[in-house]
Amino acid sequence: MASSGSGRMERLTSMLRRRGIVAPAFEAYGGVAGLVDYGPIGASIRRRVINAWLEYWSSSGDILEVESPTITPEQVLVASGHVGEFNDLMTSCRKCKSAYRADHLVESIRDDAESLAADQMTGLLESESIQCPGCGDSDWEPCAPMNLMFKTSIGAMGSGRVAYLRPETAQGMFMQYSLLYRHFRQKLPFGGIQTGKGYRNEISPRQGMIRLREFTMAELEYFFDPEDPPMGDDGDWSTPVSLIPSSNLDGVEMSLSVALESGVILHPTVGWFLARTLELVLRLGVSPGNLRFRQHRPDEMAHYATDCWDLELEGEHGWIECVGIANRTCHDLEQHATHSGKSEFRAWRPFESPRVIEVDRWAPVRAKIGPVFKQRAAEVTSAIEGLTDMPKQAPFDIELADGSTITITEEMVERRSETITETGEWFIPHVVEPAFGIDRIIWHILDHSYQESERDGELYTTMRLPQLTAPYDAVVLPLFDKDGMGAMAMELRSSLSSMGSLKIDYDSSKSIGRRYARADEVGIPWAVTVDHQSLEDGTVTIRNRDDGSQRRVDQGSLMELLTRSKHERDAL
Ligand code: GLY
Repeated sequence: MASSGSGRMERLTSMLRRRGIVAPAFEAYGGVAGLVDYGPIGASIRRRVINAWLEYWSSSGDILEVESPTITPEQVLVASGHVGEFNDLMTSCRKCKSAYRADHLVESIRDDAESLAADQMTGLLESESIQCPGCGDSDWEPCAPMNLMFKTSIGAMGSGRVAYLRPETAQGMFMQYSLLYRHFRQKLPFGGIQTGKGYRNEISPRQGMIRLREFTMAELEYFFDPEDPPMGDDGDWSTPVSLIPSSNLDGVEMSLSVALESGVILHPTVGWFLARTLELVLRLGVSPGNLRFRQHRPDEMAHYATDCWDLELEGEHGWIECVGIANRTCHDLEQHATHSGKSEFRAWRPFESPRVIEVDRWAPVRAKIGPVFKQRAAEVTSAIEGLTDMPKQAPFDIELADGSTITITEEMVERRSETITETGEWFIPHVVEPAFGIDRIIWHILDHSYQESERDGELYTTMRLPQLTAPYDAVVLPLFDKDGMGAMAMELRSSLSSMGSLKIDYDSSKSIGRRYARADEVGIPWAVTVDHQSLEDGTVTIRNRDDGSQRRVDQGSLMELLTRSKHERDAL
């Protein structure tokens, strides 16, 4: 990243808006905080980041993409804990009525602002005479939790079913767990990935692309047997990175392999996903010098996690959480099993060799059950046979499929001891989740890639994006739009684009220098120029964005160079 300050952020933001990369949405109507537009160049960068993310994870073979609705019925989010726990504390100024996220008001005096309880926060606002950023008064309403989800209704008004716009894509993967389990032939570990919009009704969003009300998430839920936590050797285990464990806020600098060996990272699967995340974000264009992993303190952990490391990126907004790698254990699947009453949220663990065990069972006495339960007798009999938790003595109550409870008396059952052979057991898989905030990552890729220099006494800006996430792989430029150079350049553009893997721009407007500058500003890594010699021998010049060097190549080598350099991290 070039040095911050002296208006760099304003110049970067204004360039992003001017060049159609990212701009506030609905500006004609005054804009809405927390909603942004990606213009043609920005949407192309966004698409390429998403595609690179999907390809990275899918290439391992045990991780597959799924797609689920953004509208989510309330029961799902009650089970996941989001209805009860997905809150921020808010307050409002009694004088000017402006509403604020309470932790934002005290974050300059308290490091643990996000974890304060409502009464502590209310007391702090008062004892510290915190001033309203709007009117300067310091008279606050008591702090209260506000759920961050956008509520809606599925169906017509009165009979509508309560639902929410999803706050995370993750629940889609948990809902599809049994589809994934079947697809992977009942064999763990495996993962589901999904990219798509998530929604959070932030109280007072600020910081442009960092805190959005509608944003792109890219999440992976990796399901595994907690008795056999998986770890692979792919990922970046060797680059030294800054790590801040919750037990040592001074932090340490080491590779992820050393961090795992020395116990800084405790869980092998969490460590593996840190290493893969590191490799991926470096490929996407994040600068290694502005990156760290920070472990959550127990009091800041999300309700579903027992451990979480954030990948934080440093830029014009300071250090920002861009990926959360959480150990969600069996929280979500267990909750969905309990709340839905369904048995599909589990996995089978075969024993190495079958186990012969003695079990006590209650055997139904049909002659007694029939007269009492009549047409429901068969249902009652199979409920007794299906008991997994054996009541120690009769009478006892059991629940039938319709939720009704019946009492089984002593004469309706006989106690029997049986020898059975068990070949395995059911258990609830654990989950490690890397959750990426795509908009935040894009902001940091842009921020880290943006470089200012001086040329001919004027500011010259270059976006040093890797080809993988640049808006175009190359721009084709006719030196002059005459003598057939324009037509040849157009033809070259379509032949380079025709295979689909390269995205090629065409620009014939104004001087060649202006066109190079326009391409450099939005990060196009290669400029291909068709000149007089091209008309004679078919060769073209190719210019490297980052050092301005040029060479002449034939068209076959051009295609090969552009395709190869796209997948080489340090090609430019
Ligand atoms: N699924 C992670 C998050 O919601 O932040």
